[in-house]
Amino acid sequence: MLEITPITPTLGAEVCGIDLSADLSDNLFGAVRDAFNQHSVLLFRGQEMSPEQQVKFSARFGKLMVHVLKESLLEGHPEIYRLSNVVKDGIPQGRANAGQYWHSDLSYEAQPSLGSVLYGIEVPKVGGDTLFTSTAHAYETLSPTMQSFLKGLTGVHQFAHAFRGRTTSPTLSQAKLEERPPVEHPVVRRHQDNGRDCLFVNPGFTINIKELEDQESEILLDFLYAHMTKPEYVLRHKWLPGDVVLWDNRALMHTGVNDYDAASPRHMHRTTIEDAA
Ligand code: SIN
Repeated sequence: MLEITPITPTLGAEVCGIDLSADLSDNLFGAVRDAFNQHSVLLFRGQEMSPEQQVKFSARFGKLMVHVLKESLLEGHPEIYRLSNVVKDGIPQGRANAGQYWHSDLSYEAQPSLGSVLYGIEVPKVGGDTLFTSTAHAYETLSPTMQSFLKGLTGVHQFAHAFRGRTTSPTLSQAKLEERPPVEHPVVRRHQDNGRDCLFVNPGFTINIKELEDQESEILLDFLYAHMTKPEYVLRHKWLPGDVVLWDNRALMHTGVNDYDAASPRHMHRTTIEDAA
């Protein structure tokens, strides 16, 4: 029996009574998908999933995306992006300090993401949390005048933007940074599955707002980021080994927190689902 307990008033729920490594019936999967569309972040504790099982569960939501950073993919499983500070025999076991800025995963792709599944295999005892904030709630708490102004605007997103002084992640070659050219997405996107309007700009990957002068764009984006990340809107997830967190990239932004001891292993597998809409 599935038990779904909300975590904050604006987003997140813990889901008990499910083993994600099992073949889920259509009914059970439907209940998970409904909870996902309602709460935007679902936490499943005490899971144990092989890479095949994670891929299988994630693929129930849609086509899986392959991350541009090929060296951080799991061998034999290109759908799994490894987030890791572990180095074995001099070889990094994934991308260190990835995503430590507010972002929506892969918003720099022409076809952005529906959601991500992050499986915490090894996690620090202290620190290394992940923060989430609802971009649907953020939109809904703006004035009607601001809402209608934003609806006519376009955000320009690029992977390379995250590396312009915004991350402690190891630098990449210029060629790698430019592998993904800038793409455009509406600043407000309607969520296909719950009908809510969501802000779709983020400090990680949004370069500017196309229709505005540079200074106007910067001021507006700074205002929106401050509004979206108010402490009362933020869910802070403290990881335990075996946690699986499923989040909706259409309806939130998230960031890793770089406050943990570099000697504490933090090793996670992420799958990212494409938004087919
Ligand atoms: C990410 O998927 O963006 C990383 C989040 C984290 O490492 O906490």
